[in-house]
Amino acid sequence: MRDLADRLEHLGTETAFAVSKAAADWAAAGNTVYPFHLGDIDLPTPRNIVTAMNAAIEAGRTGYCPAPGIPELRAALAADIGSRRSMTFVPEQIAVQPGGKPVITKFIQTLMRPGQGVLYPSPGYPIYESQVEYFGGRPLPYGYRRTDEGFEIDLDRLAELAPQASVLIYNNLQNPLGCESSQSEMDAVAALAIEHDLWVLSDEAYFEMRYSGSSTSIASLDGMADRTVILYTFSKKFAMTGWRLGCAAGPERVIEMIAKLNTNDESCTTHFIQHAGVAALADPSGAASLLDELRRRRDATAAALADVPGVRFAVPEATFYLFPDVSEAMDRTGHTAVGDFATAALHATGVSFCTRHHFGRPLPGEDDRAIRLAYSGIGVDAIGEGLGRLAEWVDGDGR
Ligand SMILES: Cc1ncc(COP(=O)(O)O)c(C=O)c1O
Repeated sequence: MRDLADRLEHLGTETAFAVSKAAADWAAAGNTVYPFHLGDIDLPTPRNIVTAMNAAIEAGRTGYCPAPGIPELRAALAADIGSRRSMTFVPEQIAVQPGGKPVITKFIQTLMRPGQGVLYPSPGYPIYESQVEYFGGRPLPYGYRRTDEGFEIDLDRLAELAPQASVLIYNNLQNPLGCESSQSEMDAVAALAIEHDLWVLSDEAYFEMRYSGSSTSIASLDGMADRTVILYTFSKKFAMTGWRLGCAAGPERVIEMIAKLNTNDESCTTHFIQHAGVAALADPSGAASLLDELRRRRDATAAALADVPGVRFAVPEATFYLFPDVSEAMDRTGHTAVGDFATAALHATGVSFCTRHHFGRPLPGEDDRAIRLAYSGIGVDAIGEGLGRLAEWVDGDGR
């Protein structure tokens, strides 16, 4: 038998799915599981969106449609993305995608040559590292420092690496850290991008997933619009993770090539789903109640986590993640590896979560004793119960 293609040796994955499997196996054995591991949402998609999709199917919107998206959705996205960022987009600057994730691979395929350096966050969404390496780029991960308020980008390291880079991936309102750049941090990142003439992917998957204040896009800063592609997705805001709908928004010549990749990859994003997307943008009221529920969960998680001994964390104002430092809790329960701590916690308490290691390779010298708690797939009561058990387990020194 012939071998598989060599390039697959460089393809990574979302190892977090292994955590789902461990949790599912534990539940199948008759145990209660408290799922803090998945970035999925267990709340229904707002009714108006479902109705619009059904109507689109009934109306026969079931054939192929244009590769960059139906004109109504491109126009609606251009208006919505632009107005929320104080920018102006025309429909030609929008390429509709089956989700936000394809923007990552298509951005890299369009703008990164093999051998070129790519700056990306670590911890960060693991698909950046996977795709950079798969397409033969040079990985240049940059890290964060934990502060009392959350996290800040290690700007010294970013500046040190930037001369080797052609591309920068920036995820403000960050998965897994839940953090957000201050204006001065964002300004500094943009200044580096301009100084070193970098293409920028601004992953804005969580742009509107926030409980106070307002978001700023790095694309809106002076000198950035022509070099930045925005990743936009319906997945989080409208609880539409499984629908697969998003877009790339950026300079026309880049978007044209991304749309050409659409033609090669999937022809078009599912036609009737795009009509549902138009309805979502026209009446986003369902997204507000979704955010209210996520806020309740955020508060419940923060309150219950405060009672877990040996855990240090800040409460994020955005995303649906917390990223506590668990080094003391690990010491108390007798664990030196954070993966073993996670497995022991699952078996002792049913609480399931990802660790630092699911979000890119840790950087040299980094303290990896941190976990990610996602509260998008678990209700308020279960949050209190699960974290209560975790507190008892740590308090009893892991017995
Ligand atoms: C930072 C980040 N970017 C992109 C995505 C992909 O979003 P989608 O599910 O729309 O493909 C996710 C999903 O979890 C994410 O966390």
